[in-house]
Amino acid sequence: MNVKEIRSQFPILATQTYGKPLVYLDNAASSQRPVQVIQEWDRLAQTANANIHRAVHYLAGEATDAYEGTRDFVKDYLHASAREEIVFTSGATASINLVAFSFGEAFVHEGDEIIVSMAEHHSNIVPWQMLCQRKKAVLKVLDIQENGVLRVEQLEELISHRTRIVAISHISNVLGIVNPVREMVTVCHKKGVPVLVDGAQGIVHSRVDVQELDCDFYAFSGHKIFAATGTGVLYGKKKWLDAMPPYMGGGEMIETVRFSGTTYAPLPEKFEAGTQNFNAIPTLVPALCFAKSCMEDTETIDNQKNITEYIYNHLANHPLITLYGRPEHLEDKIPLFSFAVKGAHHEDLALILDKMGIALRSGQMCAEPLMDRLGVTGLLRASFAPYNTLEEAEYFVKALEKAINMLI
Ligand SMILES: Cc1ncc(COP(=O)(O)O)c(C=O)c1O
Repeated sequence: MNVKEIRSQFPILATQTYGKPLVYLDNAASSQRPVQVIQEWDRLAQTANANIHRAVHYLAGEATDAYEGTRDFVKDYLHASAREEIVFTSGATASINLVAFSFGEAFVHEGDEIIVSMAEHHSNIVPWQMLCQRKKAVLKVLDIQENGVLRVEQLEELISHRTRIVAISHISNVLGIVNPVREMVTVCHKKGVPVLVDGAQGIVHSRVDVQELDCDFYAFSGHKIFAATGTGVLYGKKKWLDAMPPYMGGGEMIETVRFSGTTYAPLPEKFEAGTQNFNAIPTLVPALCFAKSCMEDTETIDNQKNITEYIYNHLANHPLITLYGRPEHLEDKIPLFSFAVKGAHHEDLALILDKMGIALRSGQMCAEPLMDRLGVTGLLRASFAPYNTLEEAEYFVKALEKAINMLI
C-alpha cells in the first residue's frame, strides 16, 4: 500500500491547523480513524441502533449480530481458543481494572504480591495499588536499565511463593520498546504465576497471537488502533475468567435474580454488565482489518522503518536532546520517541510546534513513576502511525530545530 493511498482513507489528515497542514504525531494517545470505521459507526447508528441481547425485534437482532460478530472476529484476530475468552470493555484501563478487581477478589489475599514494571502506564499501576490496599497485598516493581530496557533477568528473583500475578506492558507508551513478553510469560509460568499483558500499544504494532504468547490476559483499547473511542477488549484464558467473580452487576450479566440470591450468566456476558457500546464495538472489525493490512504490507513496513531510523538517528545524536528508550537493536523500537531538550520546557516546545501544525504529546504521559526514575518532570513525545510520511518526519525535525532556536 502506498502511504498516499493510506492517507486518503483518513479524512482528518487533509485538514489544517492554524493554516498549516496537520501533522499528527500523537498516535500513541489516540490514532485517527479511516473512513471505513466512520462509515461502520454511521451505518449502525442509522440502520441498527437498538439495545443488544434483550429484545426480539429486527433492529435488536441487527445490532446484536454486529456486536457478537465482532466478538468472533476479535477471537480470530487474537487467535484466542474460544469466543468466551473475549470480553468487551470501554478500553485498556477498564480491562485491567476488571482483572485487578475480579482476579484480586478470587486469588489475592493479605501478604500476597503483585509485580508490575517501572515503565507502566498509570492504568497498569493504580488498579493494582487499589487491589493491594484492599487486600493488604504488596506491589513489587521490576526495574529498567539506563537505556530503558526492562531488567528481565531480575524477574525470576522478584517472583516469590506469594506472587499472584505479573502485569506488564507489551510496549511502553513512553519508551517505545517492545518488551520480551513471551520470554517473561515462560519465566512466570515456570513459577506458576499468571501474566496480564497491557497491550494498549502492543496491539497497534504487532500481530498478537495470544496462544503463542501464552499470556493469561491481554488488554487493549480500540481508539489507539483506529476504532471508535469507548471500545476495548479483554482477552482472558477461560480457566481464569470462569474462576473470577463478576466485576460489575446489572443488566444481562445475570442468569437469575431473586432477592434470595442472584446467579450469573456464563462467559463472556458475566463481565459485560449494563448497556454495552453497541454502535462502537463493531468498528473494531474495519479498524483491525486496516491495522492488519498495514502490518502485512512491505511498503508500509519499510516506511515505518525508515521513519524510525531517521528520527532515532536525529534525536539520539542531537547535542541538546536526551532521547529515552534506546534498546540495543532498533527492531525492538516502535516509531515512538520521548525526549527532553536541554534548556527548553517540553510544554513550550509542544505549543510552538502546534502552531506549526504538528500535534505532539507533552508531559508525564500517565507514567509518573517512570518520569521519576528517569529524573525528569515531563517529556515531549512524537509517535507515528502508518499514515505518517517521511516528509512529515523531516518537517517535524526542521520545526523542532526552529522551536529550539526560538527558546534557547
Ligand atoms: C501502555 C498503555 N496502557 C494503558 C493505557 C490506557 O489506555 P486507555 O486510556 O485507552 O484505557 C495507555 C494509554 O495511553 C497506554 O499507552
